[in-house]
Amino acid sequence: MNATLAGSGEAPIALDAAGWLAEPPEFRNMFNADGELVRMVLAYHRRCGFACAVETGTFEGYTTLGLARIIPRVYTIEVVEKQYCEALARLRDQPRIRPLLGNSSAVLAQIMPELRYPLLAFLDAHWGHYWPLRDELRLLMAVKQPKLIMIHDFQVPGRDFGFDAYLGRPCNLDYIGDVLVHDECRYVFNERTAPGSANRGVLFIEHCLESAPHTPEWSRA
Ligand SMILES: C[S@@+](CC[C@H](N)C(=O)[O-])C[C@H]1O[C@@H](n2cnc3c(N)ncnc32)[C@H](O)[C@@H]1O
Repeated sequence: MNATLAGSGEAPIALDAAGWLAEPPEFRNMFNADGELVRMVLAYHRRCGFACAVETGTFEGYTTLGLARIIPRVYTIEVVEKQYCEALARLRDQPRIRPLLGNSSAVLAQIMPELRYPLLAFLDAHWGHYWPLRDELRLLMAVKQPKLIMIHDFQVPGRDFGFDAYLGRPCNLDYIGDVLVHDECRYVFNERTAPGSANRGVLFIEHCLESAPHTPEWSRA
């Protein structure tokens, strides 16, 4: 480790000699080990100071743990009970984290009044017969408060990143465009993925966030 990133406000952050995020350890397994996404979330956090995060699709809880090193209150929702119980063993002693069992769109509807803003919503619930993404977006779009919505496994134009499909329909703007309020949103894709990561595409939807990202914070130089 030979450098630190200033200003995250919460966790001490260190970079290794190659400039990748090395500490805290919770960052290494976030977002399928994609340190570029961690870097983008940290840059957004420096810019707007997230008060709260919600993750749909807990799976093993590694992204949840990383989010809790950055953001003071983190909700995570998992529909598969066995998966939820396994993640709970990892997350239960974390005072910042509230693990919830259930279908993400239904649970999200229940907890909407508790959420704080600026909000980070990480939408990653899939693999089931029902894909909750469009219903989650409808709920989030209805609240005119500053938020960043990250959609994992999104088809990024012009990049060879992995993405998901539902009933043969790729996860892209054609699939979700009609539920977004375009004149309230700004859209950003991930530009690159970290070596050794799952190489997945991500759409960032800035909803009611005011200004564009500070470009210098986005580059590694
Ligand atoms: C790709 S994994 C999530 C990975 C996790 N967010 C991470 O970054 O490590 C998808 C998870 O979503 C869960 N899931 C699928 N449909 C869901 C739904 N309707 N509500 C909540 N969770 C769901 C799956 O059981 C699975 O654990």
